[in-house]
Amino acid sequence: MCGIVGYIGGEQAAPILLEGLSRLEYRGYDSAGVAVFDGQTGSLAVRKAKGRLQVLSDQLHGGADLDSTAGVGHTRWATHGAPSDVNSHPQVSRSGKIAVVHNGIIENYAELKAFLMNQGVSFTSETDTEVVAQLIEYFYDGDLLQAVGRVLHRIQGAYALGILCADCPDQIIAVRKDSPLILGYGEGCNFIASDVTAILRHTRRVGYMEDGELAVLTREGVQCYNHLMQPIEKEIVTVDWEIDAAEKGGYEHFMFKEIMEQPEALRRCLSPRIREGEAVFEDFSLSKDFLQNMRRIYIVACGSSYHVGMVGKYHLERLTRIPVEVALGSEFRYMDPIVDEHTLVIVISQSGETLDTMAALREARRLGGHILSIVNVVGSSIARESDQVLYTWAGPEIAVATTKAYTTQLALLSLLALWLGKRLGTVPEKDCREMVAAFRELPGKMEEVLSHRDDIQYFASQYFNHDSIFFMGRNLDYALGLEGSLKLKEISYIHSEAYASGELKHGTISLIEDGTLVVALGTYGKLFAKAMSNVVEVKSRGASVLALTTYPHQEEMARTADVVMTIPDIHALLLPILGVVPLQLFAYYVALMRGCDIDKPRNLAKSVTVE
Ligand code: AGP
Repeated sequence: MCGIVGYIGGEQAAPILLEGLSRLEYRGYDSAGVAVFDGQTGSLAVRKAKGRLQVLSDQLHGGADLDSTAGVGHTRWATHGAPSDVNSHPQVSRSGKIAVVHNGIIENYAELKAFLMNQGVSFTSETDTEVVAQLIEYFYDGDLLQAVGRVLHRIQGAYALGILCADCPDQIIAVRKDSPLILGYGEGCNFIASDVTAILRHTRRVGYMEDGELAVLTREGVQCYNHLMQPIEKEIVTVDWEIDAAEKGGYEHFMFKEIMEQPEALRRCLSPRIREGEAVFEDFSLSKDFLQNMRRIYIVACGSSYHVGMVGKYHLERLTRIPVEVALGSEFRYMDPIVDEHTLVIVISQSGETLDTMAALREARRLGGHILSIVNVVGSSIARESDQVLYTWAGPEIAVATTKAYTTQLALLSLLALWLGKRLGTVPEKDCREMVAAFRELPGKMEEVLSHRDDIQYFASQYFNHDSIFFMGRNLDYALGLEGSLKLKEISYIHSEAYASGELKHGTISLIEDGTLVVALGTYGKLFAKAMSNVVEVKSRGASVLALTTYPHQEEMARTADVVMTIPDIHALLLPILGVVPLQLFAYYVALMRGCDIDKPRNLAKSVTVE
């Protein structure tokens, strides 16, 4: 996720752009840049730098170095191309005449880049965005809007774009598809921004661009067009948020915002990796020789990322028939792990900086393992020290309690399991197609789960005063329970344990007494009967049971459990991704009702860089 700001009016543009970007740094902060029209030279002045926005602002003396009244700015969350000056936005065309800032992913950038290079176009960056700037110039024949329209017929993916052309110093072009972009209407000035925060100081009159729409901004006004280039009128609304609320997009907490962003994050993570019914990894490969001789897979991670690995073990073993070990980062290097050149070591980390996980990575490398990391922060230490890295593209995750990074990690690992099974010949073609179809319906089904969040809020209001809560489940539901329990503990401070349901009777069931709350997870259809028997088991000892199951099993579960949360049914490969959402919401609402500091829980840090 990245932040975009644009301004055209009568005041100095650079300070306005920098101030707007400072309010969007939560969207991305590994580099930043601005492009403005330079009236002296009739060209574009582009200034950009790796690092936090302050680095750029210091270089520009707060914007005083740039004398211009129109331009665009960008703060980056890297997806294609590690954070660097050259990969920062704005990206410019070969002649420097076109400058583009972009939020999103151009899925077909590789083929477009190859086409342009065949036409003699030379590239300077590793980004997908540079392709857009170069392609606009390729089509530009004096009519900028038409050139942009031709480009939009060729690029695929998600994009919010701000576009400048040195020949058109009195206009900014904006485009929106699957990435948010708003218009701001001022007095003698107009704006574009990724969200309201960036421009609220200047205007409260905004228009929300829809997918496929373009806008041409001048000092006098804004003309919008639909995807057929037909002029349209946009509704102008007045924003009543205060600035700090708007930084969270109107949500009270970053955690809730990030829970709600999960469908969009999953689309960003998956759509470039599913093509024509196949899992496609442009950014990853394993030689035939390695695949044929791969004897073991190790998954190494901490916390919620470890829980991703617990789910992934079930999928990988089921789909590849290769033995999978899941190890805690803090334990791995002390357990004499059995790793050699025939071992694939999957290292999972949202931050890419967790020291326990990094130490495990180095030990696995020393033993000869092939290191693949699944990471959210592009260019992070773990990503840089891996042999290969798959980025989740979830965008910055601000809340300490991970949500969208967890679900995109899990989606990526599940897709990888399918990809490996297909290459090892252990997954029948029909099953592959079924699973790929399930991935496509996942974001929509997650939106359906999120639409029932009020139900979860009600359940939380019934149980937030408990001082101990058990989670139990079998197989995939056990791994799901581990994450549900951790979410609850870390933000509500309620003691909680996750148990393999079948294990309860071997000791821990002695703790179950009248009123003990047990969250019983029964989403995995194959073991639903077992889940039911465990519900009966704890009910008979006085427990209150809050169950989670799929729509088809709701009625049967409701006959025994006190309360039933439900999710749509989906292929078992993806059940834990849907199933975790009610548990995230349950933890969030319980913590809210307990008055806890949800985004910054006591004793915790977003990235644990100590042993
Ligand atoms: C998750 O909600 C926790 N904040 C924590 O367990 C986290 O998952 C763990 O510290 C690992 O972090 P990483 O994914 O950045 O490596």
